[in-house]
Amino acid sequence: MFHCLILPALLFLLSANTCASSGAVAKNQAVADAARARWSSGPHAGWLSRILPPAVTASSVPEPDSRGAQLLSRYCVQCHHLPSPAMHHPDKWPKIVDRMVVRMRGQGNRGALMKHMMGGVKAPDEEEVHMLIGYLRRNAQMPINRARYPDLDTEGRSFRDACDQCHALPEPSSRTADEWRRVVRRMQDNMGWMNRVEGSRPIAGEPQLRPRDILDYLERNARQPRGSRPARIRSVRSRRADDR
Ligand code: HEC
Ligand code: HEC
Repeated sequence: MFHCLILPALLFLLSANTCASSGAVAKNQAVADAARARWSSGPHAGWLSRILPPAVTASSVPEPDSRGAQLLSRYCVQCHHLPSPAMHHPDKWPKIVDRMVVRMRGQGNRGALMKHMMGGVKAPDEEEVHMLIGYLRRNAQMPINRARYPDLDTEGRSFRDACDQCHALPEPSSRTADEWRRVVRRMQDNMGWMNRVEGSRPIAGEPQLRPRDILDYLERNARQPRGSRPARIRSVRSRRADDR
């Protein structure tokens, strides 16, 4: 009897919770869409839309129904696409947020232009800045532990040169081979998106992404998917196979 009551109660709570969170996420997306509509119809739209790629939405950011995600949608889409917390490592975020807050308050580099351009840009108060930084740091990129990769300057060169142009070099063992294939594909798009003015040609000598070399390196050093054999055993075996 007791069980009969508990199960429906639990299901009710779960569904109520899901509804509440999807409501919060939809609200965040609406706020973000309104902000983007403001700058993307203005005379600076071409430049602003290339600052960051359109990579994440209110529902795909981490902890989508948290206060941090709400603040991200309120403040960080006022001049460019929504930033992804996983783009930068934890120690990088406080300085970036400070740089952005200075702009939102209409001071600093391009401050006057920004203010003029944006008109109604809102700036976070101190408590909100603190929350935002905490959220970004908690969901940040894991930077590479270079001591573990003595071959970074030889076999890892393509990866080293291509993948630290916009953010710190990520830790290869932080993702599985499958996840790396998806990430690298997206990074090719990001490079096209961010590095070039629309319609321009590649510049001679511009560092080129060599996806095959980079993927070989990342796949070799990737985290094993859950439930498969431990990486150490596999790599010793494959090294023996290579020696033959
Ligand atoms: C008032 C306009 C404005 C607002 C609001 C704004 N940004 Fe920016 N952002 C810029 C401009 C301009 C650039 C390009 C120049 C630069 O990198 O400083 C930029 C670039 C960036 C970049 C790419 C450069 C890098 O260092 O990786 C990130 C990431 C970023 N902003 C994050 C944020 C976050 C997080 C917020 C919210 C706290 C935010 N921005 C709010 C104007 C703004
Ligand atoms: C042109 C700038 C640029 C270059 C070069 C670049 N990235 Fe990124 N990276 C980004 C941006 C912007 C984001 C956040 C948006 C996204 O995830 O697409 C990001 C996010 C990431 C993330 C976090 C993604 C997630 O969803 O967890 C990883 C991991 C990453 N990059 C790896 C790489 C690797 C590997 C390379 C080299 C192949 C690379 N990046 C090159 C701009 C760049």
